[in-house]
Amino acid sequence: MRATIAILGGAMTPASGPFQAAVEEAAREGMEILKKGETSVEAVIAAARCTEDNPVLNSGTGSRLNMVGEAEMDACVMEGKGLKSGAVACITKVRNPILVAEKVMRETDHILFVGEGAVKFARSMGFPEYDPVTFARRQEWEDIIGRLKRGEELPDSYRRILSYWKKMKNWIDEDTVGVVAIDKDGTLAVASSSGGGPLKMPGRVGDVPLIGCGIYADNRAGAVVFTGHGEVFCRHLAAKTVCDLMRQGMNAQEAAEEWVGILKNEAPGAVVSLVCIDRKGNVGGCRNVKETPHAMLQEGADACVSGFSKILFPVK
Ligand code: GLY
Repeated sequence: MRATIAILGGAMTPASGPFQAAVEEAAREGMEILKKGETSVEAVIAAARCTEDNPVLNSGTGSRLNMVGEAEMDACVMEGKGLKSGAVACITKVRNPILVAEKVMRETDHILFVGEGAVKFARSMGFPEYDPVTFARRQEWEDIIGRLKRGEELPDSYRRILSYWKKMKNWIDEDTVGVVAIDKDGTLAVASSSGGGPLKMPGRVGDVPLIGCGIYADNRAGAVVFTGHGEVFCRHLAAKTVCDLMRQGMNAQEAAEEWVGILKNEAPGAVVSLVCIDRKGNVGGCRNVKETPHAMLQEGADACVSGFSKILFPVK
């Protein structure tokens, strides 16, 4: 099997400049691991860690802040061999949520730790206290909170927050970093990490750490990761559905496109971008937003390929 890695960097993130460079750097980091003969799980974790350490993306350092000004992060890793997984949700004050998720997978017989329990688990595993809030995210938060309090107009991209702020019940735009890989032995893996949407409610958990919703990997089918409206992916078990389509015989691109079509009918207006790899190593990508930084890299190739994610039924 030709080792391959594919990555996306958020459905609300420009696909240019430092954002595209960030996902390509992470793809290269993961490929170095695959080239050494290590597994796809090691590769997706390394790539996700790289994105978490890059402050331009909405995961780890540089996560968007919730309504009370805190970075509450979700992360998950899953291996397609044996369906092993580990996740954390609403974790705070750690540098790399994906590494804590890895410990959940490797060191416990559980799947998901949340909030304070996740932080305590991280400390017990030796992860020191760390503040992932960047100056830019703090400024962004202060600006929007100030406008909301003063009842001022918000920039277009923040309009949805107004209904969220007033009704305290709607979701808003979310961004996720996600990576899928297949190694030389044909084992598939996926990792995902997100700060969730700006000004999300404290305690809100998105699709990222919920197996079958934002991520899924199964060696009999493929591996898939989503970015966009997490609640929609939860309702429709998005990631498991795409894996089921691949298991039934669709290749990665067919399954990705099929799901974006399903979304158009089931949840019109919801934002999605996904990448996947099927069990034969084909990469697929589809989205209904104008931009998503994304890249794929195959063993032996000189450079990352981008632009493979197809736009269908655009909503923005
Ligand atoms: N898709 C990321 C989130 O909803 O948190």
